[in-house]
Amino acid sequence: MVTLQHSVVVITGAASGMGKAMAHEFADNGANVVAVDVDEAGVDDVAAAIGENAIGVYGDVSDTESMESVVDTAVDEFGTIDVLCNNAGVLDEYAPVDETSDDLWDGVLGVNLDGPFYLTRAALPELESGDEEGVVINTASVAGKAGDGGGAAYTVSKHGVIGLTKHLATAYAPDIRANAICPGAVETGMTEDMLGQLTELAAETPADEPAEPAEIASVAVFLASDKASFIHGEAINVDGGMLADI
Ligand SMILES: NC(=O)c1ccc[n+]([C@@H]2O[C@H](COP(=O)([O-])OP(=O)(O)OC[C@H]3O[C@@H](n4cnc5c(N)ncnc54)[C@H](O)[C@@H]3O)[C@@H](O)[C@H]2O)c1
Repeated sequence: MVTLQHSVVVITGAASGMGKAMAHEFADNGANVVAVDVDEAGVDDVAAAIGENAIGVYGDVSDTESMESVVDTAVDEFGTIDVLCNNAGVLDEYAPVDETSDDLWDGVLGVNLDGPFYLTRAALPELESGDEEGVVINTASVAGKAGDGGGAAYTVSKHGVIGLTKHLATAYAPDIRANAICPGAVETGMTEDMLGQLTELAAETPADEPAEPAEIASVAVFLASDKASFIHGEAINVDGGMLADI
């Protein structure tokens, strides 16, 4: 158990996979949770399962006004925002540059990179306002550190997320502590149609199997806590050792 009692945590992509696991893990550690997703029924279910210290909020991370509205709702409901988990993301069909349409590029970058930028910018005044430092945790990927973790758009978006994380950590210290998590193969909604591929990929790692979403969520809670007080601007692999050989 870490000390997140009464902290207010906003989590995007919270209807499924890692975001849903983060919502439960933060709530289990005493935080108030604002669960955000385009899947409104999904986040309402997550919030209902957690109880009165959680709300489900519709939000499209690729829409800056929608993210401003999420911040307003979080402040109206819980008074401020202490921790922001930019977690929502979409895949890119593993399309290389010459097979990437403008729509695919814009769609993936819009969710994976514009999203964390829009929501972080909207939440900055709240994150900076408390006595304690505000915390930003971005879900990047091993695709943010290598060239072959996804197609062109996904790979670029996740490298960008790590860049945004380092920028936040340096430009807004000491008011904000920002870090990224780089998962490898995780069994979630995103990967359910490619479970065979995922298992094969994971079999080549020291862990030998894909992660459960909770194994990523526990790292997010640790990074948000005082126990991670000296970790700034890192992009931490939680990948079962997938990148251990580079
Ligand atoms: N699953 C993996 O193996 C893996 C590996 C590395 C990184 N990641 C990253 O982890 C994060 C979480 O993914 P996941 O695997 O839990 O996927 P998931 O598909 O289970 O969950 C993603 C959630 O994001 C939501 N979402 C999509 N577009 C949105 C938008 N515009 N606004 C708000 N919400 C939106 C979806 O509705 C969904 O609930 C993503 O950023 C993903 O890129 C996943």
